[in-house]
Amino acid sequence: MPAINIRGLSTHFRTPRGVVRAVQDVSFSVGAGRTLGIVGESGCGKSVLSRSILRLVPEPPGIRAGGEVLFEGRDLQRLDESALRDIRGSAIAMIFQDPMTSLNPVLTIGRQIGEVLERHLAYNRSKARTRAVELLETVGVQCGPKRLDEYPHQLSGGMRQRVTIAMALACRPRLLIADEPTTALDATVQMQILILLKRLQRETGMAMIFISHDLGAVASVADEIAVMYAGRIVEKAPRADLFESMRMPYTQALLRARPDLDAPPHMRLGALEGRPPDLARIPEGCAFAPRCSHADAHCRIGAPPLRADGGHSFACWKPIDHALPAEPVRANGDDGSPKP
Ligand SMILES: Nc1ncnc2c1ncn2[C@@H]1O[C@H](COP(=O)(O)OP(=O)(O)OP(=O)(O)O)[C@@H](O)[C@H]1O
Ligand SMILES: [Mg+2]
Repeated sequence: MPAINIRGLSTHFRTPRGVVRAVQDVSFSVGAGRTLGIVGESGCGKSVLSRSILRLVPEPPGIRAGGEVLFEGRDLQRLDESALRDIRGSAIAMIFQDPMTSLNPVLTIGRQIGEVLERHLAYNRSKARTRAVELLETVGVQCGPKRLDEYPHQLSGGMRQRVTIAMALACRPRLLIADEPTTALDATVQMQILILLKRLQRETGMAMIFISHDLGAVASVADEIAVMYAGRIVEKAPRADLFESMRMPYTQALLRARPDLDAPPHMRLGALEGRPPDLARIPEGCAFAPRCSHADAHCRIGAPPLRADGGHSFACWKPIDHALPAEPVRANGDDGSPKP
């Protein structure tokens, strides 16, 4: 049974400019001990999707526009607020890009971790303190008891992110949602955090949703990768399949936009030509068509459904056909035959 099973999830925003369809009809599941990576350009809906899982999108302006989030037999979209509060930070934990989103600047590290343990596991203060030291050691923050009395601003960015990971793991979550957890960190620290997350996952068997616009970071942790464009998942496949036989021209463009394929994982996505659509005015047909070199008139009329080919799904009318040899570059009117 998957740890989490999301079916047709849609989250919109009511704005003066009209309805912003930030997440549209998203489905996926993640099993225990497995990692789904979600990748896509800025503004494609990754954070709204991750916040929608735990219903952390403020309503209004957010609108739950449909779908189910099934976690251990319950639909989180329909739970009452107090049941959700019990799940947040315990069975499902979240790490954000900026550690200061999760850390309280006026509380010591020890109190913050301690509060999670006291709230969810009913630890008393001294037991919480001892456990906080252990947790900090697990995430590579040494010199325990002294550190407990420090405030977030006394720590480096990497150390702060380790503290938020310790807090996220305090209740042994069955699902960890990491939304760009390493983007704000320098390359070496980023690598260390990714290795740490993988090790903790091996030790605890938790499922993980790992979100990044950095295809390299996603590739280094994910078993399966979903590519998002304009609020939708447009391609999803096991990691190796996605890299070896991507079907979506968008995925290919993302990959090509990386500055150097042999570069270490910290290399960011380069810029892709053109801009993603305004999510209040998504074009008819395929939302990527205006930027796509494969697109024809058909692509601009009907939205391509997400279809599955084994474990690989993609939403494209003109998918890349890996059985064909790469298209030769030739001038218009040239039929490719050798000249006499
Ligand atoms: N409170 C809000 N009101 C209106 N629109 C919103 C709100 N929050 C997010 N959006 C819109 O939802 C869309 C998706 O935003 P989201 O933050 O999920 O993108 P993202 O993929 O996480 O981008 P990034 O890589 O920059 O973090 C954007 O168009 C954004 O403007
Ligand atoms: Mg985001």
